Amino acid sequence: MTGRERFLATANRRPSDRTPVWFMRQAGRCLPEYRALREKYDFMTLARTPELAVEATLMPVDILGVDGAVLFADIMLPLEGMGIPFEIKPGIGPVIAEPVRTMADVERIRVVGPEEGTPYVLEALRLLRRELGDRAAALGFAGAPFTLACYLIEGRPTKEYPLTKALMYGQPDVWHALMTKLTDITVRYLQGQVAAGADVVQLFDSWLGLLDSASYRTFVQPYTAKIFAALKGSVPTIHFSTGTVQLLEDIRDAGPDIVSVDWRLPLGRAWDVIGDGLGIQGNLDPALLMAPWTVVEAASREILAQANGRPGHVFNLGHGIMPQTDADQLKRVVELVAGHRRG
Ligand code: CP3
Repeated sequence: MTGRERFLATANRRPSDRTPVWFMRQAGRCLPEYRALREKYDFMTLARTPELAVEATLMPVDILGVDGAVLFADIMLPLEGMGIPFEIKPGIGPVIAEPVRTMADVERIRVVGPEEGTPYVLEALRLLRRELGDRAAALGFAGAPFTLACYLIEGRPTKEYPLTKALMYGQPDVWHALMTKLTDITVRYLQGQVAAGADVVQLFDSWLGLLDSASYRTFVQPYTAKIFAALKGSVPTIHFSTGTVQLLEDIRDAGPDIVSVDWRLPLGRAWDVIGDGLGIQGNLDPALLMAPWTVVEAASREILAQANGRPGHVFNLGHGIMPQTDADQLKRVVELVAGHRRG
């Protein structure tokens, strides 16, 4: 099987020759080849130039041999089309000068499609699809409305997102108006990516672990469910979050095809909660890649044993690659997964 066939068979829970593997944040961060590219261009130049974005996207496919190629982009890019300027500040992350905190702020957000807001993302995906061939699945992605709302409201990364929760619980009308707009934008953004050639799309809800089940169901799940419903029947969808052991059933009910889980539960137990009707992605602890290979090897084998040959497992980390990771460790994980036969 080619990487693309393997990934798509697994995403549809059909048997494949072996478990597909890719790593979140494989296109930036740890590869020396990426760092060399970053010395010449800043992040936004890379993201806005389709040829350069595709170059960064293909690096892990060529160097690590992964079965999925996640587009070099960022969850913050659609903010440009919304009319909300932001900066990616080194050592901090996304920073927004004028955060969204009132109904008037929400009303100012423009709801536009990616053809207008981020045409370079669509162009990069078209180019990626052509250059990638069948070597790997082309993965599109978007930030989920909740995680985008966290950045929009706080204006920068924080630990607990207190202003976000204050607005969600204290001004639910503003919250729901904001989530409605972000959902519409995200649906159009992901549908545009599918039309441009994405084989699979992943929704990143990185900060979801802040919530309890009841709050998730009231303030977030209806919007996430709308996004997955809008993509049903087009391409397989992956829901990503971390620290969400308390939400696994609720996430399943939002309707993704695959649930990405972190290392806090053994993969088999997480899959038991989610049920055999869905695929699962995960769940190596990215920090563990800093340990000697024998430790990484044992943990990787344990994950494959937990999956136990059931169709529908995509091997990945539980969260993104850490910048200090040695790329050779990742290469060896890919080789280990590739050498493991199912069943
Ligand atoms: O594999 C890849 O790197 C592909 C593209 C990708 C980026 N960001 C590029 C990027 C993806 C899939 C993302 C997702 C993303 N961005 C998430 C969700 C995943 C997660 O880790 O939870 C989030 C929360 C963001 C927001 C964001 N963007 C942060 C917090 C930062 C700064 C810290 C960091 O990750 O380096 C960014 C900037 C960013 N996005 C960079 C890259 C390569 C670093 C920019 C640089 O090279 O200077």
